[in-house]
Order: sequence, then structure tokens, then C-alpha cells
Amino acid sequence: MEKGIPAHIGIIMDGNGRWAQQRGLVRTQGHLEGLKAAKRIVKAASVLGIKYLTLYAFSTENWKRTAEEVGFILGLVKQYLRAEFDFSRQNKIRVRHAGDFSVLPPDIQKEISDSIANTADFDGMQVILAINYGGRDEIVRALKKFALANQEADKISENDISSYLDNPDIPDPDMIIRSAGEYRTSNFLLWEGAYSELYFSDKLWPDWDKEDLETAILDFQKRDRRYGGVKA
Ligand code: IPE
Ligand code: IPE
Ligand code: MG
Repeated sequence: MEKGIPAHIGIIMDGNGRWAQQRGLVRTQGHLEGLKAAKRIVKAASVLGIKYLTLYAFSTENWKRTAEEVGFILGLVKQYLRAEFDFSRQNKIRVRHAGDFSVLPPDIQKEISDSIANTADFDGMQVILAINYGGRDEIVRALKKFALANQEADKISENDISSYLDNPDIPDPDMIIRSAGEYRTSNFLLWEGAYSELYFSDKLWPDWDKEDLETAILDFQKRDRRYGGVKA
């Protein structure tokens, strides 16, 4: 599966709550299993030669959930970053963040900054953790940065907006995957996803495995990306 591997895949990891509900478990148990799936998929993506993997872990809208669930999810992020450092080092995986960092709890901020700093020189796959990420919020923050740089509003271009987003050096996602049978993007990569190939799967996120990622990529390889043009 070498040829036609997408450079950047974004994943909306959905269905943890339903996975737990179906088993009579509490929602947090679903998030724990979701974390295991995320680890499997990071490993599989790294082996497949994907260069950038953006994982939607917590949206700007997810604060609407109970304090217990929010705390649990953010706690898992911390646990993930700590537990996976050896794997990151062995596989040269670089950790990055997308989203509004400033309002995250200080301990989560520290864990994320440490991981970013400790993996900054790794030249393998980049894993972008979208935590307190919202596509609209990212665009609003980009425009604020633009204004603070004293740029003239009437000169603003698409490239300017791209350059003030959270990770301007990362190419737009070739494919966005969503698990758990919902056909929406829920505020994920609004700007960057303008020409992403969308792939929806009914499978709940905690059940995702290497094969599911491979199936998604095989589907991607059949797509005809025209970008509004006409095939020669
Ligand atoms: C996705 O699973 C994980 C996060 C949003 C953090 P959900 O928790 O949304 O699971 P469902 O959609 O309720 O099944
Ligand atoms: C999107 O899932 C956010 C993440 C996967 C982190 P949600 O479960 O929050 O989205 P909605 O509420 O179904 O749109
Ligand atoms: Mg959901």
C-alpha cells in the first residue's frame, strides 16, 4: 500500500459514548477504549507512511459535557502523552497541537508543551492533537492575529488566512475520516478541509483497527480529485 498514501489524514474519532452505552458501561469507559483505538491507529498510520495525522480529541463544543466527562477526556490526553513518549521516540513521531491552547487547564498545557518540545526534532510522522479545537474558533483567532500584525483588511488573501491558522506549515488534509455513522464535520478543519475527501464509517471509534484505516485509504485511492477543474 505504498502508492497513493494520503500525506495528511484527519480523524473525527466519534462513538466512544455509544460504545460504552451498548455494553451498559459508563461513557468514560468508552473514552478509555477510544484511547486504545487511537494508539492502534497512530501505530498503523506511522507504518503506512502517513506524514500527518490530525486527531480530533476535544472540540470547542465539548465543554458542554459534564465536568466529570471533560476532566476524564483531558486526563486521558495527559496519560496518552506520557505513556506514548517511548513509542514517539522509537518511531520519531512529532507531537503538535491545534486549537485554543490558552484556556486549557495548566497541567494539560504543560503536558502538551512538554511533548511538543520533547518531540520537536523528530522527523517521522507528525501527530496533531486537536484539543479544544473548533474550525470557526481557529479562523477567528487567525483573523485576530492578522489584525494584531497591523495588516490592512482590504488586502487580506486566502494565503494570509492560511498563514495565521494554528499550523500553517502543515498541508491541508487529503482525507477526513469520521467514525460512528454521523455525516457531519462538527467544526473540524473548516478552512483546511475545503477539498478533503470525506470518508464515513458506521463503526464506533473504540472498534477501529489497522484494517479500518487501510480500508479507508483504499477508498481514498479510488477518488478522483478534481479541485473544481475538468479531467484532462
Ligand atoms: C467521541 O466520542 C469522543 C469525543 C467527542 C471526545 P463521543 O463521546 O462523542 O461518543 P458518542 O458520539 O456519544 O457515542
Ligand atoms: C466531534 O464529535 C468532536 C470530537 C470527535 C472530538 P462530537 O460527538 O462532539 O460531535 P457531535 O456533537 O456529534 O456533532
Ligand atoms: Mg459523539
